[in-house]
Amino acid sequence: MGKTIAVVGTQWGDEGKGKIVDFLTEKADVIARYQGGNNAGHTVVIGKEKFKFHLIPSGVLHKGKLNIIGNGVVIDPKVLVSEIDSLVNRGYKVDENNLVISSSAHVILPKHIEEDKKTGKKIGTTARGIGPCYKDKIARCGLRISEFIKNYSYESTRLKKFVRDSYLIINKAIDEGKNILLEGAQGTMLDIDHGTYPYVTSSNPIAGGACTGLGISPKKINVILGVAKAYITRVGAGPFPTELGTEEEMKNENKESGLTEEDFYRANKGEEYYIGKILRKQGQEYGTTTGRPRRCGFFDTVIARYAKIINGLDALVITKLDVLSGLNQIKICVAYKYKNKILKEFPVDQEIFRECKPVYEELNGWDVNLSEIKSFDELPINAKRYLKRIEKYVKIPIAIVSIGPEREKTFILNEEYLF
Ligand code: IMP
Repeated sequence: MGKTIAVVGTQWGDEGKGKIVDFLTEKADVIARYQGGNNAGHTVVIGKEKFKFHLIPSGVLHKGKLNIIGNGVVIDPKVLVSEIDSLVNRGYKVDENNLVISSSAHVILPKHIEEDKKTGKKIGTTARGIGPCYKDKIARCGLRISEFIKNYSYESTRLKKFVRDSYLIINKAIDEGKNILLEGAQGTMLDIDHGTYPYVTSSNPIAGGACTGLGISPKKINVILGVAKAYITRVGAGPFPTELGTEEEMKNENKESGLTEEDFYRANKGEEYYIGKILRKQGQEYGTTTGRPRRCGFFDTVIARYAKIINGLDALVITKLDVLSGLNQIKICVAYKYKNKILKEFPVDQEIFRECKPVYEELNGWDVNLSEIKSFDELPINAKRYLKRIEKYVKIPIAIVSIGPEREKTFILNEEYLF
């Protein structure tokens, strides 16, 4: 009997889902992306090779896997064609046997990109036309790819062979007992319904989006894994309670420069901007799609608990634990203080959320570089303690811990949630 596993982001995107999806792909037969567009971007590292994906599931890097771009995805045809070409040029097979595009996926048109460039600044969108394309879809005046390929253009000719009724294909694969991996883009806090509105994306990255974005029943999903970075980042505008330093301070940062002894000295004296800077530099927190520096903050268990509820998470996957190395103290947000009240659950009212201050538990850090560590047992005791505290506050087990971009740097703690 196969399993259907959904992988969702629990924060504001960029949790490292791409690496986890690639890791789980080994045992998957079908990999299906269910929402978003080329606002997403993830990097997969295999050996010495680096791949950047925006639309195509990274399952194309493995032989014999079927990759689906679901109806919930919005497609910029030029971007998709160039992604296919760049994979083919690097020797990978991308044809109708390993890539299917849902007939009802919507198409991003040049006018959508123009509109996004003009109107997306306040939110800090990626300016890829995502919001305006979804807007037309909801207003029932969008263009589906099944219509797009009927009219002649270079892109329509190239994409025609991939376009099929993918709902049939994925449901048949589930019924045949295949292993299915459902891949979300962005994260819970960017969800159009459940995120920090209006500073959100225009689709549903949450697990429920996998059903609408692929045409599968909620009854068919067996496991929901929530990916969380060992800290938090956010790109674009919007409230962020555990943010370290201000955007103003970050503006003066030189992207190319490395970290100095003074940066660590000031961070370890508790200067927030410097702690954020260490996370940004050690975690290479610059957007895959836009190159923008990401705002960085401490892990927030209020948000993780919210993501657990909204997605029905079975287990967590903690990524980038290695990035915290070198900090002598690490904080973990356990609740918010709002006026004189302590809030343990995420407040949906954004006026309240914006005023929330983090209530922290302080833990000792570790000074060991984790890059050579080969097993979970070898992790510094304080790193293990940190993970245990996350489990305690979120009240679900951690299934996987990742300490670097490579596939080998992944430790499985709980097999039962995997294929
Ligand atoms: P849009 O999705 O381009 O409309 O942007 C809306 C918001 O979502 C902005 O704050 C973006 O920075 C954010 N966003 C969109 N895609 C991603 C992503 O893949 N990672 C992180 N943030 C994203």
